[in-house]
Amino acid sequence: MDRIRIVGGAELNGTIPISGAKNATLPLMIASLLTDETLVLDNVPHLADVMLLKRILGNHGVDCMVQGKRAGQNGSSGETIELSARDIVDTVAPYELVSKMRASFWVIGPLIARMGEARVSLPGGCAIGTRPVDLFIMALRDLGAEIDIDGGYVVARAPKGLTGARIQFPKVTVGATHVAMMAAALARGETTIENAAREPEVLDLASCLLKMGARISGAGTSTIRITGVDRLTGARHSVMPDRIETGTYAFAVAMAGGDVLLEGASAETLQAPLDLLGEVGAEVTATNEGIRIRRNGSGLNAVDVTTAPFPGFPTDLQAQLMALVCHARGASRIRETIFENRFMHVQELARLGADIHLDGQMATVHGVDRLKGAEVMATDLRASMSLVIAGLAAEGETVVNRVYHLDRGFERIEQKLGNCGATVERISG
Ligand code: UD1
Repeated sequence: MDRIRIVGGAELNGTIPISGAKNATLPLMIASLLTDETLVLDNVPHLADVMLLKRILGNHGVDCMVQGKRAGQNGSSGETIELSARDIVDTVAPYELVSKMRASFWVIGPLIARMGEARVSLPGGCAIGTRPVDLFIMALRDLGAEIDIDGGYVVARAPKGLTGARIQFPKVTVGATHVAMMAAALARGETTIENAAREPEVLDLASCLLKMGARISGAGTSTIRITGVDRLTGARHSVMPDRIETGTYAFAVAMAGGDVLLEGASAETLQAPLDLLGEVGAEVTATNEGIRIRRNGSGLNAVDVTTAPFPGFPTDLQAQLMALVCHARGASRIRETIFENRFMHVQELARLGADIHLDGQMATVHGVDRLKGAEVMATDLRASMSLVIAGLAAEGETVVNRVYHLDRGFERIEQKLGNCGATVERISG
Protein backbone atom coordinates (compact mmCIF):
# COMPACT_ATOMS: atom_id res chain seq x y z
CA MET A 1 0.00 0.00 0.00
CA ASP A 2 1.33 3.45 -0.92
CA ARG A 3 2.40 5.90 1.75
CA ILE A 4 3.12 9.62 1.67
CA ARG A 5 6.29 10.95 3.29
CA ILE A 6 6.42 14.60 4.26
CA VAL A 7 9.33 16.54 5.67
CA GLY A 8 7.88 19.51 7.52
CA GLY A 9 9.14 23.03 7.88
CA ALA A 10 9.19 24.45 4.34
CA GLU A 11 7.03 27.39 3.30
CA LEU A 12 4.79 26.97 0.27
CA ASN A 13 5.37 29.40 -2.60
CA GLY A 14 4.08 29.25 -6.17
CA THR A 15 0.95 28.13 -7.99
CA ILE A 16 -1.35 25.17 -7.38
CA PRO A 17 -3.79 24.39 -10.20
CA ILE A 18 -7.22 23.45 -8.85
CA SER A 19 -8.83 20.36 -10.39
CA GLY A 20 -12.43 19.72 -11.35
CA ALA A 21 -14.63 18.93 -8.35
CA LYS A 22 -15.02 15.29 -7.37
CA ASN A 23 -18.41 15.95 -5.79
CA ALA A 24 -19.69 17.58 -8.97
CA THR A 25 -18.16 15.02 -11.33
CA LEU A 26 -19.88 12.03 -9.71
CA PRO A 27 -23.51 13.24 -10.09
CA LEU A 28 -22.72 14.66 -13.55
CA MET A 29 -21.44 11.26 -14.70
CA ILE A 30 -24.54 9.62 -13.22
CA ALA A 31 -26.75 12.08 -15.13
CA SER A 32 -25.53 10.42 -18.35
CA LEU A 33 -27.98 7.59 -17.54
CA LEU A 34 -30.87 10.00 -18.20
CA THR A 35 -30.34 10.16 -21.96
CA ASP A 36 -29.60 7.85 -24.89
CA GLU A 37 -27.39 10.58 -26.36
CA THR A 38 -23.78 11.39 -25.48
CA LEU A 39 -22.89 13.54 -22.49
CA VAL A 40 -19.43 15.09 -22.78
CA LEU A 41 -17.78 16.24 -19.55
CA ASP A 42 -14.67 18.42 -19.55
CA ASN A 43 -12.31 19.12 -16.65
CA VAL A 44 -12.86 15.71 -15.07
CA PRO A 45 -10.27 15.04 -12.34
CA HIS A 46 -8.06 11.92 -12.30
CA LEU A 47 -9.33 10.23 -9.15
CA ALA A 48 -9.95 6.71 -7.93
CA ASP A 49 -13.65 7.51 -7.33
CA VAL A 50 -14.07 8.62 -10.96
CA MET A 51 -12.44 5.41 -12.22
CA LEU A 52 -14.70 3.35 -9.99
CA LEU A 53 -17.83 5.18 -11.17
CA LYS A 54 -16.82 4.54 -14.80
CA ARG A 55 -16.85 0.83 -13.94
CA ILE A 56 -20.18 1.08 -12.14
CA LEU A 57 -21.80 2.93 -15.05
CA GLY A 58 -20.22 0.46 -17.46
CA ASN A 59 -22.13 -2.26 -15.64
CA HIS A 60 -25.40 -0.52 -16.56
CA GLY A 61 -24.30 -0.31 -20.20
CA VAL A 62 -22.80 3.18 -20.29
CA ASP A 63 -20.00 3.52 -22.82
CA CYS A 64 -17.26 5.71 -21.40
CA MET A 65 -14.58 7.11 -23.70
CA VAL A 66 -11.70 9.28 -22.58
CA GLN A 67 -10.64 11.86 -25.14
CA GLY A 68 -6.93 12.48 -25.67
CA LYS A 69 -5.46 15.83 -24.66
CA ARG A 70 -5.24 18.51 -27.31
CA ALA A 71 -1.87 20.03 -28.13
CA GLY A 72 -0.96 22.78 -25.70
CA GLN A 73 -3.15 21.42 -22.90
CA ASN A 74 -1.22 20.85 -19.74
CA GLY A 75 -1.63 18.07 -17.23
CA SER A 76 -3.80 20.13 -14.92
CA SER A 77 -6.77 20.73 -17.17
CA GLY A 78 -8.45 17.43 -16.46
CA GLU A 79 -9.83 14.80 -18.75
CA THR A 80 -12.65 15.01 -21.23
CA ILE A 81 -14.92 12.00 -21.03
CA GLU A 82 -17.79 10.99 -23.27
CA LEU A 83 -20.54 9.01 -21.62
CA SER A 84 -23.10 7.32 -23.76
CA ALA A 85 -26.00 5.38 -22.20
CA ARG A 86 -27.70 4.49 -25.47
CA ASP A 87 -28.89 1.13 -24.15
CA ILE A 88 -29.20 0.49 -20.46
CA VAL A 89 -28.48 -3.20 -20.21
CA ASP A 90 -28.89 -3.66 -16.46
CA THR A 91 -30.88 -1.74 -13.83
CA VAL A 92 -29.18 -3.52 -10.94
CA ALA A 93 -26.38 -1.82 -9.00
CA PRO A 94 -24.74 -4.63 -7.04
CA TYR A 95 -23.44 -4.54 -3.46
CA GLU A 96 -19.80 -5.20 -4.50
CA LEU A 97 -19.77 -1.88 -6.35
CA VAL A 98 -22.14 0.35 -4.33
CA SER A 99 -20.43 -0.58 -1.06
CA LYS A 100 -17.12 0.76 -2.44
CA MET A 101 -18.54 4.21 -3.15
CA ARG A 102 -21.65 5.57 -1.52
CA ALA A 103 -22.47 8.06 -4.25
CA SER A 104 -23.04 5.22 -6.72
CA PHE A 105 -26.36 4.67 -4.90
CA TRP A 106 -27.47 7.84 -6.74
CA VAL A 107 -27.92 5.86 -9.99
CA ILE A 108 -31.31 4.95 -8.54
CA GLY A 109 -32.71 8.36 -9.62
CA PRO A 110 -31.96 8.23 -13.36
CA LEU A 111 -32.63 4.48 -13.59
CA ILE A 112 -36.14 4.67 -12.13
CA ALA A 113 -36.93 7.83 -14.13
CA ARG A 114 -35.79 6.46 -17.50
CA MET A 115 -36.34 2.71 -17.15
CA GLY A 116 -39.21 2.57 -14.64
CA GLU A 117 -37.23 0.21 -12.42
CA ALA A 118 -34.04 -0.01 -10.41
CA ARG A 119 -32.54 -2.45 -7.94
CA VAL A 120 -29.74 -0.73 -6.07
CA SER A 121 -27.81 -2.12 -3.14
CA LEU A 122 -28.01 -0.26 0.16
CA PRO A 123 -24.56 1.34 0.56
CA GLY A 124 -23.97 0.08 4.09
CA GLY A 125 -22.18 1.98 6.82
CA CYS A 126 -19.02 3.93 6.23
CA ALA A 127 -16.20 5.31 8.29
CA ILE A 128 -17.94 8.61 9.01
CA GLY A 129 -21.19 7.24 10.34
CA THR A 130 -24.30 5.29 9.39
CA ARG A 131 -25.41 7.63 6.57
CA PRO A 132 -28.98 6.36 5.94
CA VAL A 133 -30.90 6.58 2.63
CA ASP A 134 -34.38 7.21 4.05
CA LEU A 135 -34.65 10.63 2.41
CA PHE A 136 -33.85 9.26 -1.06
CA ILE A 137 -36.64 6.74 -0.56
CA MET A 138 -39.00 9.44 0.69
CA ALA A 139 -38.34 11.61 -2.37
CA LEU A 140 -38.76 8.78 -4.88
CA ARG A 141 -41.99 7.65 -3.16
CA ASP A 142 -43.25 11.25 -3.38
CA LEU A 143 -42.62 11.04 -7.13
CA GLY A 144 -44.81 7.94 -7.29
CA ALA A 145 -42.23 5.13 -7.18
CA GLU A 146 -43.08 1.96 -5.29
CA ILE A 147 -40.16 1.04 -3.07
CA ASP A 148 -39.34 -2.16 -1.22
CA ILE A 149 -36.25 -3.24 0.62
CA ASP A 150 -35.32 -6.77 -0.37
CA GLY A 151 -32.18 -8.65 0.61
CA GLY A 152 -30.13 -5.53 1.21
CA TYR A 153 -31.37 -3.89 -1.99
CA VAL A 154 -33.69 -0.95 -2.58
CA VAL A 155 -36.11 -2.08 -5.25
CA ALA A 156 -37.86 0.81 -6.99
CA ARG A 157 -40.65 0.48 -9.55
CA ALA A 158 -42.63 3.00 -11.55
CA PRO A 159 -43.93 1.09 -14.58
CA LYS A 160 -46.04 4.04 -15.73
CA GLY A 161 -43.30 6.60 -15.06
CA LEU A 162 -42.84 9.12 -12.26
CA THR A 163 -45.20 11.98 -11.52
CA GLY A 164 -44.19 15.47 -10.37
CA ALA A 165 -44.76 16.18 -6.66
CA ARG A 166 -43.89 18.40 -3.74
CA ILE A 167 -40.83 17.01 -1.98
CA GLN A 168 -40.04 18.54 1.36
CA PHE A 169 -36.77 17.38 2.88
CA PRO A 170 -36.80 17.45 6.70
CA LYS A 171 -33.03 17.96 6.62
CA VAL A 172 -30.62 19.21 4.00
CA THR A 173 -29.13 16.39 1.96
CA VAL A 174 -26.91 16.87 -1.06
CA GLY A 175 -27.24 13.35 -2.45
CA ALA A 176 -31.02 13.13 -2.18
CA THR A 177 -31.35 16.61 -3.74
CA HIS A 178 -29.26 15.43 -6.73
CA VAL A 179 -31.37 12.28 -7.07
CA ALA A 180 -34.72 14.07 -6.72
CA MET A 181 -33.67 16.66 -9.32
CA MET A 182 -32.55 14.00 -11.82
CA ALA A 183 -35.65 11.86 -11.30
CA ALA A 184 -38.05 14.82 -11.51
CA ALA A 185 -36.44 16.01 -14.74
CA LEU A 186 -38.11 13.05 -16.52
CA ALA A 187 -41.30 12.91 -14.38
CA ARG A 188 -44.71 13.99 -15.68
CA GLY A 189 -45.60 17.51 -14.49
CA GLU A 190 -44.23 19.87 -11.90
CA THR A 191 -41.99 19.06 -8.95
CA THR A 192 -41.00 21.38 -6.15
CA ILE A 193 -38.09 20.42 -3.90
CA GLU A 194 -38.19 22.29 -0.61
CA ASN A 195 -35.30 22.59 1.83
CA ALA A 196 -33.08 21.53 -1.08
CA ALA A 197 -29.31 21.48 -0.65
CA ARG A 198 -27.79 24.76 -1.89
CA GLU A 199 -24.31 23.34 -2.45
CA PRO A 200 -22.60 24.67 -5.62
CA GLU A 201 -22.40 21.07 -6.90
CA VAL A 202 -26.23 20.99 -7.01
CA LEU A 203 -26.12 24.11 -9.16
CA ASP A 204 -23.47 22.54 -11.41
CA LEU A 205 -25.63 19.45 -11.93
CA ALA A 206 -28.67 21.67 -12.65
CA SER A 207 -26.71 23.69 -15.25
CA CYS A 208 -25.75 20.48 -17.02
CA LEU A 209 -29.32 19.14 -16.88
CA LEU A 210 -30.53 22.44 -18.39
CA LYS A 211 -28.11 21.94 -21.29
CA MET A 212 -29.61 18.45 -21.67
CA GLY A 213 -33.06 20.01 -22.09
CA ALA A 214 -34.37 19.81 -18.52
CA ARG A 215 -36.59 22.59 -17.17
CA ILE A 216 -35.26 23.57 -13.75
CA SER A 217 -35.27 26.83 -11.83
CA GLY A 218 -34.07 27.79 -8.36
CA ALA A 219 -31.07 25.42 -8.13
CA GLY A 220 -28.62 26.93 -5.65
CA THR A 221 -31.55 28.14 -3.48
CA SER A 222 -33.55 26.06 -1.04
CA THR A 223 -36.54 25.75 -3.41
CA ILE A 224 -35.98 24.05 -6.74
CA ARG A 225 -38.76 23.85 -9.33
CA ILE A 226 -38.69 21.28 -12.10
CA THR A 227 -41.07 20.75 -14.98
CA GLY A 228 -40.63 17.25 -16.30
CA VAL A 229 -39.84 16.64 -19.99
CA ASP A 230 -40.31 13.48 -22.10
CA ARG A 231 -36.65 13.04 -22.94
CA LEU A 232 -33.28 14.60 -22.37
CA THR A 233 -30.55 15.04 -24.95
CA GLY A 234 -26.76 14.93 -25.01
CA ALA A 235 -24.78 18.00 -23.95
CA ARG A 236 -21.28 19.25 -23.18
CA HIS A 237 -20.41 20.53 -19.71
CA SER A 238 -17.25 21.53 -17.90
CA VAL A 239 -16.98 20.40 -14.25
CA MET A 240 -16.73 23.26 -11.71
CA PRO A 241 -13.47 23.76 -9.78
CA ASP A 242 -13.15 21.72 -6.59
CA ARG A 243 -13.97 23.97 -3.63
CA ILE A 244 -12.85 21.35 -1.11
CA GLU A 245 -9.48 20.91 -2.80
CA THR A 246 -9.20 24.70 -2.91
CA GLY A 247 -9.98 25.07 0.78
CA THR A 248 -7.59 22.26 1.65
CA TYR A 249 -4.62 23.88 -0.10
CA ALA A 250 -5.61 27.28 1.30
CA PHE A 251 -5.41 25.78 4.81
CA ALA A 252 -2.10 24.12 3.91
CA VAL A 253 -0.60 27.50 2.95
CA ALA A 254 -1.96 29.09 6.14
CA MET A 255 -0.33 26.26 8.08
CA ALA A 256 3.07 26.20 6.38
CA GLY A 257 3.31 29.94 5.60
CA GLY A 258 4.18 31.35 2.19
CA ASP A 259 2.36 32.77 -0.81
CA VAL A 260 0.40 30.59 -3.24
CA LEU A 261 -2.02 31.22 -6.09
CA LEU A 262 -4.77 28.59 -6.20
CA GLU A 263 -5.23 28.77 -9.93
CA GLY A 264 -8.76 28.45 -11.33
CA ALA A 265 -10.35 28.45 -7.85
CA SER A 266 -13.69 30.17 -7.39
CA ALA A 267 -14.06 32.34 -4.26
CA GLU A 268 -17.86 32.53 -4.29
CA THR A 269 -18.18 28.79 -3.63
CA LEU A 270 -15.95 29.10 -0.58
CA GLN A 271 -16.87 32.25 1.29
CA ALA A 272 -17.20 30.77 4.79
CA PRO A 273 -13.78 29.02 4.77
CA LEU A 274 -12.08 32.05 3.22
CA ASP A 275 -13.58 34.39 5.85
CA LEU A 276 -12.35 31.99 8.49
CA LEU A 277 -8.85 31.98 7.04
CA GLY A 278 -8.86 35.76 7.45
CA GLU A 279 -9.80 35.31 11.12
CA VAL A 280 -7.06 32.71 11.58
CA GLY A 281 -4.50 35.20 10.27
CA ALA A 282 -3.97 34.45 6.57
CA GLU A 283 -4.35 37.01 3.81
CA VAL A 284 -6.85 36.00 1.14
CA THR A 285 -7.23 37.79 -2.21
CA ALA A 286 -9.64 36.74 -4.94
CA THR A 287 -8.11 37.52 -8.35
CA ASN A 288 -9.12 36.87 -11.98
CA GLU A 289 -6.84 33.87 -12.01
CA GLY A 290 -8.02 32.29 -8.77
CA ILE A 291 -7.42 32.83 -5.06
CA ARG A 292 -4.14 33.99 -3.56
CA ILE A 293 -3.29 32.93 0.00
CA ARG A 294 -0.45 34.43 2.02
CA ARG A 295 0.84 34.12 5.54
CA ASN A 296 4.19 35.54 6.43
CA GLY A 297 5.52 34.72 9.86
CA SER A 298 2.55 35.95 11.90
CA GLY A 299 1.00 33.55 14.43
CA LEU A 300 -2.35 31.84 13.96
CA ASN A 301 -5.47 32.82 15.91
CA ALA A 302 -7.87 30.36 17.52
CA VAL A 303 -11.43 30.16 16.11
CA ASP A 304 -14.90 28.80 16.92
CA VAL A 305 -16.48 26.93 14.01
CA THR A 306 -19.61 24.86 13.46
CA THR A 307 -20.00 22.83 10.28
CA ALA A 308 -23.24 23.43 8.36
CA PRO A 309 -24.78 22.91 4.93
CA PHE A 310 -23.76 25.46 2.27
CA PRO A 311 -23.22 28.40 2.61
CA GLY A 312 -21.98 27.41 6.08
CA PHE A 313 -18.56 25.96 6.87
CA PRO A 314 -18.32 22.59 5.02
CA THR A 315 -17.93 19.37 6.95
CA ASP A 316 -15.51 18.30 4.20
CA LEU A 317 -13.01 20.92 5.48
CA GLN A 318 -13.47 20.24 9.18
CA ALA A 319 -10.50 17.86 9.52
CA GLN A 320 -8.18 20.20 7.58
CA LEU A 321 -9.24 23.15 9.76
CA MET A 322 -8.51 21.11 12.85
CA ALA A 323 -4.96 20.46 11.67
CA LEU A 324 -4.47 24.17 11.07
CA VAL A 325 -5.63 25.31 14.50
CA CYS A 326 -3.38 22.76 16.23
CA HIS A 327 -0.81 25.53 15.80
CA ALA A 328 -3.00 28.49 16.81
CA ARG A 329 -2.64 30.64 19.94
CA GLY A 330 -5.28 29.57 22.48
CA ALA A 331 -8.23 27.20 22.30
CA SER A 332 -10.34 26.61 19.18
CA ARG A 333 -13.70 24.92 19.24
CA ILE A 334 -14.97 22.88 16.30
CA ARG A 335 -18.48 21.45 16.29
CA GLU A 336 -19.46 18.84 13.69
CA THR A 337 -23.19 18.85 12.90
CA ILE A 338 -23.42 16.95 9.60
CA PHE A 339 -21.87 13.53 10.26
CA GLU A 340 -21.46 11.52 13.43
CA ASN A 341 -18.07 9.94 14.02
CA ARG A 342 -16.18 12.36 11.81
CA PHE A 343 -13.36 12.95 14.27
CA MET A 344 -11.15 9.96 13.55
CA HIS A 345 -8.28 12.24 12.60
CA VAL A 346 -8.12 13.44 16.23
CA GLN A 347 -6.17 10.42 17.45
CA GLU A 348 -3.78 10.63 14.52
CA LEU A 349 -3.19 14.37 15.01
CA ALA A 350 -2.46 13.58 18.66
CA ARG A 351 0.39 11.33 17.47
CA LEU A 352 1.98 14.46 16.02
CA GLY A 353 1.68 16.23 19.37
CA ALA A 354 -1.71 17.97 18.97
CA ASP A 355 -3.71 18.69 22.10
CA ILE A 356 -7.37 17.96 21.29
CA HIS A 357 -10.20 17.18 23.67
CA LEU A 358 -13.33 15.50 22.30
CA ASP A 359 -16.74 15.80 23.86
CA GLY A 360 -19.44 14.26 21.66
CA GLN A 361 -19.62 16.30 18.47
CA MET A 362 -17.41 19.09 19.86
CA ALA A 363 -13.62 19.17 19.63
CA THR A 364 -11.59 21.66 21.64
CA VAL A 365 -8.13 22.18 20.21
CA HIS A 366 -5.50 23.79 22.43
CA GLY A 367 -2.81 25.22 20.19
CA VAL A 368 0.72 23.88 20.70
CA ASP A 369 4.01 25.56 19.71
CA ARG A 370 5.39 22.56 17.92
CA LEU A 371 4.17 19.44 16.21
CA LYS A 372 6.61 16.61 15.70
CA GLY A 373 6.58 14.26 12.72
CA ALA A 374 5.41 10.66 13.25
CA GLU A 375 3.90 7.73 11.43
CA VAL A 376 0.12 8.16 11.10
CA MET A 377 -2.81 6.45 9.45
CA ALA A 378 -5.32 7.97 7.01
CA THR A 379 -8.83 6.97 8.07
CA ASP A 380 -10.99 8.65 5.46
CA LEU A 381 -10.67 10.97 2.53
CA ARG A 382 -10.69 14.40 4.20
CA ALA A 383 -8.96 13.15 7.36
CA SER A 384 -5.99 12.08 5.23
CA MET A 385 -5.46 15.63 4.07
CA SER A 386 -5.53 16.94 7.63
CA LEU A 387 -2.56 14.71 8.38
CA VAL A 388 -0.71 16.02 5.33
CA ILE A 389 -1.40 19.61 6.43
CA ALA A 390 -0.17 18.91 9.94
CA GLY A 391 2.88 17.15 8.50
CA LEU A 392 3.81 20.27 6.51
CA ALA A 393 4.31 22.18 9.75
CA ALA A 394 5.61 19.35 11.94
CA GLU A 395 9.29 19.04 12.71
CA GLY A 396 10.98 16.20 10.87
CA GLU A 397 9.35 13.40 8.97
CA THR A 398 5.68 12.40 8.87
CA VAL A 399 4.58 9.26 7.06
CA VAL A 400 0.89 8.93 6.21
CA ASN A 401 -0.22 5.33 5.70
CA ARG A 402 -3.25 4.09 3.75
CA VAL A 403 -3.18 6.91 1.20
CA TYR A 404 -5.69 5.10 -0.98
CA HIS A 405 -8.24 7.16 0.96
CA LEU A 406 -6.51 10.28 -0.29
CA ASP A 407 -6.37 9.07 -3.90
CA ARG A 408 -10.17 8.86 -3.90
CA GLY A 409 -10.48 12.63 -3.81
CA PHE A 410 -7.17 14.48 -4.33
CA GLU A 411 -5.04 14.16 -7.44
CA ARG A 412 -1.25 14.52 -7.65
CA ILE A 413 -0.81 16.05 -4.20
CA GLU A 414 2.92 15.21 -4.16
CA GLN A 415 3.34 17.19 -7.37
CA LYS A 416 1.02 20.07 -6.43
CA LEU A 417 2.67 20.62 -3.02
CA GLY A 418 6.15 19.66 -4.26
CA ASN A 419 6.05 22.36 -6.96
CA CYS A 420 5.54 24.92 -4.20
CA GLY A 421 8.62 23.86 -2.25
CA ALA A 422 7.30 21.18 0.11
CA THR A 423 9.04 17.84 0.48
CA VAL A 424 6.19 15.41 -0.15
CA GLU A 425 6.80 12.08 -1.80
CA ARG A 426 4.89 8.91 -2.46
CA ILE A 427 6.47 5.69 -1.30
CA SER A 428 5.02 2.85 -3.39
CA GLY A 429 4.35 -0.63 -2.13
C1 UD1 B 1 -22.21 14.82 0.07
C2 UD1 B 1 -20.73 14.86 -0.31
C3 UD1 B 1 -19.86 14.76 0.95
C4 UD1 B 1 -20.25 15.84 1.94
C5 UD1 B 1 -21.75 15.82 2.20
C6 UD1 B 1 -22.22 16.98 3.08
C7 UD1 B 1 -20.60 13.87 -2.49
C8 UD1 B 1 -20.14 12.73 -3.33
N1 UD1 B 1 -20.44 13.74 -1.18
O1 UD1 B 1 -22.44 13.57 0.69
O2 UD1 B 1 -18.49 14.91 0.54
O3 UD1 B 1 -19.58 15.63 3.14
O4 UD1 B 1 -22.49 15.89 0.97
O5 UD1 B 1 -21.88 18.18 2.48
O6 UD1 B 1 -21.08 14.87 -2.99
N2 UD1 B 1 -29.02 11.87 5.48
C9 UD1 B 1 -30.10 11.18 6.01
N3 UD1 B 1 -30.88 10.45 5.17
C10 UD1 B 1 -30.64 10.38 3.83
C11 UD1 B 1 -29.56 11.11 3.28
C12 UD1 B 1 -28.76 11.83 4.14
O7 UD1 B 1 -30.34 11.22 7.22
O8 UD1 B 1 -31.41 9.70 3.12
C13 UD1 B 1 -28.16 12.65 6.39
C14 UD1 B 1 -26.71 12.17 6.41
O9 UD1 B 1 -26.55 11.06 7.27
C15 UD1 B 1 -26.01 13.41 6.92
C16 UD1 B 1 -26.82 14.54 6.28
O10 UD1 B 1 -28.07 13.97 5.90
O11 UD1 B 1 -26.13 13.50 8.32
C17 UD1 B 1 -26.18 15.17 5.07
O12 UD1 B 1 -25.79 14.14 4.19
P1 UD1 B 1 -25.77 14.36 2.61
O13 UD1 B 1 -25.80 15.82 2.33
O14 UD1 B 1 -26.82 13.51 2.00
O15 UD1 B 1 -24.34 13.79 2.23
P2 UD1 B 1 -23.92 13.05 0.89
O16 UD1 B 1 -24.77 13.51 -0.24
O17 UD1 B 1 -23.80 11.59 1.15
